[in-house]
Amino acid sequence: MYSEKVMDHFMNPRNVGEIENASGVGTVGNAKCGDIMKVYLQIEDGVIKDAKFKTFGCGAAVATSSMATELVIGKTIEEALKITNKSVAEALDGLPPVKMHCSLLAEESLHAALWDYAEKNGITIEGLKPPVADVHDHDHGHDEDEEDAN
Ligand code: FES
Repeated sequence: MYSEKVMDHFMNPRNVGEIENASGVGTVGNAKCGDIMKVYLQIEDGVIKDAKFKTFGCGAAVATSSMATELVIGKTIEEALKITNKSVAEALDGLPPVKMHCSLLAEESLHAALWDYAEKNGITIEGLKPPVADVHDHDHGHDEDEEDAN
């Protein structure tokens, strides 16, 4: 059911932990299952130097958080914004459809951490939306219909 990469990132998650005095911290819960993810970002000169996470959640949530932090390290804020739950899932060689909503946690908590960073620094990040407290059980992708009612 799961790809080798998903299993690998679940069994040996990368970047687990916290960053002290992080530039931005984002916490998002999944309304459907109650799982929670917290992401810490260290940002210097507009580049994400380090990322860590803690996930209280299912295997797919752990694997996607692990991959999302791997993908985001070394990226500029602008590049980081382009990381979606789909690109994280693709980097893991796919997730079962019923587990796609888990990958939303990674995307949303990343965005929430960027939002926190922007707020702390009094800046606006183009294209970044205010964080949601809970993600919902649908895969809204990043198409035009993002704001669909759930
Ligand atoms: Fe909750 Fe996967 S079942 S995040």
